Amino acid sequence: MNGRSAIVKVPASTANLGPGFDALGMALDLYEWIEIRLSDRTQIHVYGDELQGAPTDKSNLIYVMAQHLFEAAGVSHPELDISMYSNIPLTRGLGSSATAIIGALVAANALIGEPFSQDALFQMATAIEKHPDNVGASLFGGIVVAFWDGKRAEYLRVEPAPSLDVLVAIPEFHLSTEKARHVLPTQVAMKDAVFNVGHSSLLVAALCTGRYDMIRHAMKDALHQPYRSALVPGMSAILERATDHGALGVALSGAGPTLLALVDGASGGKQELEKFMLDSLRAEGIGARTMWLKPALAGAELLTQGDSNYTFMEVVKGEVRA
Ligand code: HSE
Repeated sequence: MNGRSAIVKVPASTANLGPGFDALGMALDLYEWIEIRLSDRTQIHVYGDELQGAPTDKSNLIYVMAQHLFEAAGVSHPELDISMYSNIPLTRGLGSSATAIIGALVAANALIGEPFSQDALFQMATAIEKHPDNVGASLFGGIVVAFWDGKRAEYLRVEPAPSLDVLVAIPEFHLSTEKARHVLPTQVAMKDAVFNVGHSSLLVAALCTGRYDMIRHAMKDALHQPYRSALVPGMSAILERATDHGALGVALSGAGPTLLALVDGASGGKQELEKFMLDSLRAEGIGARTMWLKPALAGAELLTQGDSNYTFMEVVKGEVRA
């Protein structure tokens, strides 16, 4: 048994930010920790409430992604001892699968001496996800502006302003990305495409220049949210009126069902916005919880590598927010 291990910490993410469908992502300060250890027998240890029900056999996404990287590197490590802990709610639009993909690739790459660059990991993860928004944010941190043309992904990272707060309202029900993409049309009207080019461009410019007064105008979408609103009762009211209750702008987080508001940290009235979002969902019979988050400035981080003196959960406990 070899026993070499790598532990990584990876942030959650929100995708689209409204108009930037499959193009904009922002890392959030919710995290998954993953350890991959070379072993002579595959075992998968799942800790914490959020990951309950995750497969503990070789169909586990972390195992599958690690094998994908080993195969690309031309090495064979069929047996892995994997541990994972997460405080990212699953299938709610907070990028949990992209977080797992990035965590697995970064840890597996570290285990075999980092044959792949960060860019190569980004290309690999994007080709798996088919869009670069969540994986880019989880890998690089901050706000990521990216495209994927089916062959290569290109990105630029934008630094979120320290005053930017994020309020998420997380409905109790799960919504798979597959289902939320299935309701989208295969073709869109030119006027809707033009609408999104303008709004997404203005949003990026507003984030780059600190013109937060523009976010309320910019964070509007005609390409996916109108089609997805039927899947998230209460969403239309929140998108229409959250800016009247203190949000700088509001959007469906990724493919949903979480709703996400950007908020100026210096502004008052945070409780009013929280109440408005919860009440709007409750009025449609949807239970939800809220969380105040910050953009995560750092992307995936390698915490330990080689023969660590610490157990996985000791490393996690040292990191989990009180
Ligand atoms: N851009 C993606 C979508 C993010 O909206 O479907 C979800 O993974």
